[in-house]
Amino acid sequence: MILPIYTYGQGVLRKEADEIDESYENLKELISDMFETLKKAEGVGLAAPQVGLPIRLMVVDLDAVSDDMPEFKGYLRSYINPYIEETGGEMVPYEEGCLSFPGIHEKVNRPSKVRVSWLDEEFNEHDEWFEGFPARVMQHEIDHLDGKCFIDRMSPLRRQMNKKTLNNIAAGKFNCDYKVKLNRK
Ligand code: NI
Repeated sequence: MILPIYTYGQGVLRKEADEIDESYENLKELISDMFETLKKAEGVGLAAPQVGLPIRLMVVDLDAVSDDMPEFKGYLRSYINPYIEETGGEMVPYEEGCLSFPGIHEKVNRPSKVRVSWLDEEFNEHDEWFEGFPARVMQHEIDHLDGKCFIDRMSPLRRQMNKKTLNNIAAGKFNCDYKVKLNRK
């Protein structure tokens, strides 16, 4: 089932998400719905707050970019209760977009490596370093679980330059090809 994506201006995107445990109902179905929603929207990552759920859950689909980056063929992963444990490498700029911010693409500086702990769908513990594009996606998505968005990491100048677009998104004035949940509806 395709879920509507919550866009900028909605409170759930600014909440710190709660951890979940094995008692969370219909988790596998939710994960499956999030992958389906992400694919339909042609994104590479989706965090639960973006579908209106303030829980620490996110899905990553790098298979979506495997035409350009064949090493990511079949890279479909879900992460329960993920946390950034450590960062490394150097700060690197990279252009990011976000399904909750249709029409905005901006360079954001982030560390090139990141160590993440999480649980898989069977609630087994994992702890791994990521680098390159996966490190970028992990940091962007985990930010969502902490109530942060990529605009928070833009330079003040770039944020100012996007102010009108941001106001329009918050007011529901934008176009995109996927289903969204607008404010106050
Ligand atoms: Ni995002």
